Amino acid sequence: MLAELDAALGERRASGLMRERRVIDSAQGPSVRIGEREFIAFASNDYLGLANAPELVDALCHAARAWGVGAGASHLIVGHQRPHELLEQELADYVAPCEGARALMLSSGYLANLAILTALAGRNDAIFADRLNHACLTDGALLSRATLTRYPHCDVHALREALATTQARRRFIVTDAVFSMDGDIAPLPELLAVAHAHDAWLVVDDAHGFGVLGGGRGSLAHFGLSSERIVYMGTLGKAAGVAGAFIAAHPLVIETLVQTARPYIYTTAAPAALAETLRTALRCIRDGDARRAQLGTLIAAFRARAEALPWTLLASSTPIQPLVVGEVETAVRVSEALAARSILVPAIRPPTVPAGTARLRISLSAAHTLDDVDALARALSEVAADA
Ligand SMILES: Cc1ncc(COP(=O)(O)O)c(C=O)c1O
Repeated sequence: MLAELDAALGERRASGLMRERRVIDSAQGPSVRIGEREFIAFASNDYLGLANAPELVDALCHAARAWGVGAGASHLIVGHQRPHELLEQELADYVAPCEGARALMLSSGYLANLAILTALAGRNDAIFADRLNHACLTDGALLSRATLTRYPHCDVHALREALATTQARRRFIVTDAVFSMDGDIAPLPELLAVAHAHDAWLVVDDAHGFGVLGGGRGSLAHFGLSSERIVYMGTLGKAAGVAGAFIAAHPLVIETLVQTARPYIYTTAAPAALAETLRTALRCIRDGDARRAQLGTLIAAFRARAEALPWTLLASSTPIQPLVVGEVETAVRVSEALAARSILVPAIRPPTVPAGTARLRISLSAAHTLDDVDALARALSEVAADA
């Protein structure tokens, strides 16, 4: 096996697809340190700048003294502590996907999506998924053993046609709310209407919308949507700045997950200290209008400054601003040239994005300043001129 692994890794290296982990020597923030060098970073999902916010650091220290550092067991044994319970109630009330919704905290968004799809869908069911969904929605669909149909990106017409021919017992429309590598927003009102018309469920992955859109409440509030057919997933390691995820839905859906979702049941609960810290993060999100306004200003400023670049800036009103350059080598070269100018922007390559659409995934945070955005725009123009 080692010889095979060596050959496969060699091929990956030769096609420029080798992934490297950069070791960051500082806390997350608008600038990070690698060794002795400082970089302005446009690479994290810390959209509100909470990952190193003093009030959250204090909350975690305080919570660790009160609750210790480990949950000690899974939720159904003795790991479910008061902070988990309170956080779930607060999240359910805040996001409110339907009247009387409940919420369930999980250790990551990846596990939350596996939990939703494996607990609710099975062999006789059908999952209809946007082609650009995040990998963990695809993995959850495959693990569920339901039939998986991938419809063209945001193509409601194609989705409707696919649903019209299904005989499946349960049908699920599954979509990112904000697409993680494109930054665009799914047409959730239309998708919900299709779900109603075809007796389907709508699973919404709001990893990149929660905390940012809808005044913080996320993509459902952004569109003013609420329905018993919605199963909502929000992550807590992006705009919320900490770690974990939650599912919010009708109480019967949540109780079914508690009883049967293996990614919830067979794993140690996240530390209560994190849940308690997340309660503070939720307050920061709730009171975060100034952070969201700053983010909006930076997004508009970046888009205005990026107009003259020779690459394709995708239409996105969210903090994810992808600059599609096409070939893998170009994306890597531009990313390296930016790093040489002390700016970190990751090159995103296939298979994470379709072949021929390698890109720079620029992500903005409320913790950035206009000067940071100016520095990025200047560096991009220089690199473009050299290309
Ligand atoms: C759209 C989407 N869903 C789910 C996840 C997984 O969330 P987590 O990082 O909490 O596992 C991510 C990113 O990591 C994502 O971008």
